[in-house]
Amino acid sequence: MTLVAIIGGSGLTALKNLEITRREVMRTPYGEPSAPLIHGRIGGQSAVFLPRHGHGHTIPPHAVNYRANIWALKETGATHVIAVNAVGAIIPVLASGSLAFPDQIIDYTYGREHTFFGNDQKPVTHTDFTFPYCEELRQALIEAAREGGFEAAEHATYAATQGPRFETIAEINRLERDGAHIVGMTGMPEAGLARELALCYASIAVVANPAAGRAAGIISLREIEQALDAGMGKVRALLERVVPMLR
Ligand code: HPA
Repeated sequence: MTLVAIIGGSGLTALKNLEITRREVMRTPYGEPSAPLIHGRIGGQSAVFLPRHGHGHTIPPHAVNYRANIWALKETGATHVIAVNAVGAIIPVLASGSLAFPDQIIDYTYGREHTFFGNDQKPVTHTDFTFPYCEELRQALIEAAREGGFEAAEHATYAATQGPRFETIAEINRLERDGAHIVGMTGMPEAGLARELALCYASIAVVANPAAGRAAGIISLREIEQALDAGMGKVRALLERVVPMLR
């Protein structure tokens, strides 16, 4: 049976169009997830919601317990995970408030618990990550966006940085040389952990701002909030379309 989980990011700590049926407090071998899981229905289909940064947006990207979050979603029966990630745009075609469905990742994070296969795991386990996002789910997102008339970039390489500070211009230039199009702080290790537990995982990236040096001046938090407000309206509408497509 299909159960879609939605991990909300910055700008999406609550899912207004989820008809809530119950809350579930979870404990995992890795500690507690960011918040109780919220079960409900979206577009007439069961779904479960987890705000990555906690209900009050109190947990910064480097301190999220990604292992507990992914473990809890698997444990509650999720088969698919739609992650919502705020990003900065490295390339100018991606306007603030627009959406992208990344298909590749480069991981620049460090010091985060990034695997379920610890030092005592015998035999050693290596997980394929050639295509880091679940193509079935990505295609469903692409189709739902097309049907809903939402413009969205259908390919993008996501650079996962450590945060919580934004990047320097030189760092963004380096990410661009590396082939990245968008930059965010929460894409990893989340995607890798989901793959380790064989969850079908894809991301809706919401462009919050031009990355450092890609617009005049410094990064403005007020502009980010405005762009996320606009972007999250689209995300909610997209979720209403895509969740019923996954049954
Ligand atoms: N850099 C990293 N993460 C982000 C950004 C950014 O510019 N905007 C939103 N999340």
